[in-house]
Amino acid sequence: MNRTGHWEKIYADKAANQVGWYTPRLETSLEWITALGLNPDDPIIDAGGGASTLVDDLLEAGHTRLTVLDISGNALEQARQRLREKSKSVDWLQGDITEIELPKNHYRLWHDRAVFHFLTEQSLQQNYRNRMLDALRPGGYVVMGCFAPDAPPTCSGLQVQRYTAEALSNTLGSAFALKRQNNESHTTPSGVKQAYIYCLFQRIA
Ligand SMILES: C[S@@+](CC[C@H](N)C(=O)[O-])C[C@H]1O[C@@H](n2cnc3c(N)ncnc32)[C@H](O)[C@@H]1O
Repeated sequence: MNRTGHWEKIYADKAANQVGWYTPRLETSLEWITALGLNPDDPIIDAGGGASTLVDDLLEAGHTRLTVLDISGNALEQARQRLREKSKSVDWLQGDITEIELPKNHYRLWHDRAVFHFLTEQSLQQNYRNRMLDALRPGGYVVMGCFAPDAPPTCSGLQVQRYTAEALSNTLGSAFALKRQNNESHTTPSGVKQAYIYCLFQRIA
């Protein structure tokens, strides 16, 4: 099965609050985004946002230019249905982050929780990085959460690349300066603990 089919099936088979990465509130992401003091109309993209509730909380906090990108249309549909009327103010993009065309120098913040780590091939990591670099404004921020070295080697039946903050920083390259990092533990709905590394980067070149 190809990447799109894999993720479509997951979101067709399970409710948004039954998937392993579900959490009712993305606490670290929200805390770090709030601390950046962005303007309400600064464009924000949640790359691989799936059916996550981050978009709900950012709307609630007053952000007006939100994009949620995901390879799975089923995931985006779940989020849209949850948000009802409010979903109309969000840009929903279905596509593969390693291939999609995004507006240049546009976003002030790029958010990714548990997406980049599925790219285990260097060429795909480079594609992702180049798209992020193109789409992010100079001085813009990246909040990224990936599996840490002591997390399981797979997630949702797929191999993942596990990172320290230093390794993630090296992979993203010198255009992104590491500003903040935090280790945290996520407990899946079935009670399994997964170690994450959260990093904040700023685009400096
Ligand atoms: C582990 S889930 C995390 C979802 C969300 N970020 C969260 O924290 O709840 C990974 C998400 O990435 C999406 N995804 C995987 N590969 C992708 C790709 N190449 N392009 C865009 N989205 C992708 C999946 O459909 C899924 O929604």
